Amino acid sequence: MSRFLSEWKRTHNCGELRRANVGETVVLMGWVQNYRDHGDIIFVDLRDRYGLTQVKFDPAVSQAAHDEADRLRSEWVFAVRGTVVDRGTMENPNMPTGAVELEATEIQIFNPSKTPPFPISDRNDANEILRLKYRYLDLRRAGLQEKLVMRHNVTRITRDYLNDHGFLELETPILAKSTPEGARDYLVPSRVHPGEFYALPQSPQTFKQIFMIAGYDRYYQIARCFRDEDLRADRQPEFTQIDCELSFIAPDDIYRIMGGLIRRIWKDTIGVDVPEIGQMTYQEAMSRFGIDRPDLRFGLELQDIGDLAAKTDFVVFKRALEEGGLVKAINAKGGASLSRTEVDKLGAVCTRYGAKGMAWVKLQPGGWQGPAAKYFPDDVKDELAARLDATEGDLICFVADTFTVCNDALAHLRLALGEKLGLIDEDAWKFIWITDFPLFEEVTENGRYYSKHHPFTSPHPDDVQYLESDASKVRSLAYDLVLNGTELGGGSIRIHDQGVQAQIFKLLGLTDEETQVKFGFLLEALGFGTPPHGGLAFGLDRIVMLLAGTDSIREVIAFPKTQKASDLMTDSPSGVDPGQLEELHIRVVKPAPKAD
Ligand code: AMO
Ligand code: AMP
Repeated sequence: MSRFLSEWKRTHNCGELRRANVGETVVLMGWVQNYRDHGDIIFVDLRDRYGLTQVKFDPAVSQAAHDEADRLRSEWVFAVRGTVVDRGTMENPNMPTGAVELEATEIQIFNPSKTPPFPISDRNDANEILRLKYRYLDLRRAGLQEKLVMRHNVTRITRDYLNDHGFLELETPILAKSTPEGARDYLVPSRVHPGEFYALPQSPQTFKQIFMIAGYDRYYQIARCFRDEDLRADRQPEFTQIDCELSFIAPDDIYRIMGGLIRRIWKDTIGVDVPEIGQMTYQEAMSRFGIDRPDLRFGLELQDIGDLAAKTDFVVFKRALEEGGLVKAINAKGGASLSRTEVDKLGAVCTRYGAKGMAWVKLQPGGWQGPAAKYFPDDVKDELAARLDATEGDLICFVADTFTVCNDALAHLRLALGEKLGLIDEDAWKFIWITDFPLFEEVTENGRYYSKHHPFTSPHPDDVQYLESDASKVRSLAYDLVLNGTELGGGSIRIHDQGVQAQIFKLLGLTDEETQVKFGFLLEALGFGTPPHGGLAFGLDRIVMLLAGTDSIREVIAFPKTQKASDLMTDSPSGVDPGQLEELHIRVVKPAPKAD
């Protein structure tokens, strides 16, 4: 028999047959999920990406089919022709096709399979290294398939929405020039220009701005981006953005149009009605939550208690204030019931994020207890309790440190407390636009600034006058969309003035020559009638990750890389022929092996 499909035509998929099909002759094709030999009769659960159907090989119906089916093993791929029959009392209510089975009259085995190194099941807990090496087998799992279908749906809805709103889907180069988004570049050597390199785009940022200059006033791209950075659960070295840019717009237009896209996606994938998305300034987010991506599913807000801390006898508090730092507190309602060990674990969260310690007090029936209690005079206790709305049974945690450390430590403490006290509503979708980010990072080195977003972000019009005198004070027209504590996307209104752009490059420490080499093309283009413009990019992988309810970005990417940026299936990166290196004018200098 031929192993190819000349006489066989699939009539249905494996998730499709119902009682209404009883009596029909059908052809299914798929893989062996399960194989059971009940004496004479063989039962096979046949699987494709649509589901499972039970196939029965009964020698009384066809001896030949039964004998051939006897050879089947896990993951063999075959076609079967037969009659749909009612399972009657043997119905399996757990399977959508469970009311029927296929009584086989003919079988065509296409290919056997080696024994898979792990079972194809969402219940399998084979280690991830093995699953990534045999990704094609892991991808057969229903769980992964559902996530990739979700991904497809998100891109489909995105294209529909943006097309309907007048956007053009345009492509930008992959062999490109460095686009600074804060990570290292992946470089590609040029054969015809010895010693010169392309950089894979960290984002299409400069090209999409050039589109605006060229008059294509609404652009989008489902764009692959490449960043050589330290990987985490929600970061991959290559990932996908829903990248957009618009001309003649203000931030409010972006919030409306792009917020509309997000609401459409949530509605059309999981049926959730997301209300109009609100806004919060960066400053408010830092003050109330200690972080620029606040998780708004629960309270436990941070309170600045610097003025009260100054009235205590606690040197740790006083020193932090003298050094220009902050003292902030969280009132964990009902937290007094936590054990000493549990409280110490919370303290360890703070020290992990740089704090020198976490002071705490429990409000007990007999009064304040805990290591920090003794430093608070009674009147200060009352004021503090009133400020924090603290009553008997509560736990108050304090951190005194610089702005950055104090906020970072307490933001993570807040999350740990939220989890510990069971305050996080796992079914909630809390979106927020964070606005008015500072233009530059806190840290400067030798008077050199670092962009908080990227160098093309417009300073806030109210703050431009401080660019010369105190650039650290300058806010920007940058915004992020945050969902449940994850940054889904970010963007900004751009600089459309050549002079301002040159000034920013200078503040970033670029010499005129460096500016010319790196961004000369953009500066020049800005001089040819650049419209006001802005945009943003959403992380497609992160959107799908949250919609699919997983906390690993690798679960929503068909062929992801490991923490060490390797693809275990194709075994890349890998060495190349010496001849290739020679053509590329490249000599490799391996680092000396590290002494253990
Ligand atoms: P930004 O660098 O903030 O902005 O990136 C936008 C969004 O892309 C996602 N993202 C990532 N996802 C997975 N793995 C990564 N390594 C990774 N890095 C970023 C995040 C992030 O919010 N050009 C600007 C956008 C603009 O200004 O229009 C940019 O790239 O969800
Ligand atoms: P004491 O027992 O008097 O030394 O109190 C020290 C308490 O303050 C301990 O619980 C420390 O964890 C805590 N602590 C130390 N440094 C800080 C800090 N910078 N901010 C808040 N608490 C701190």
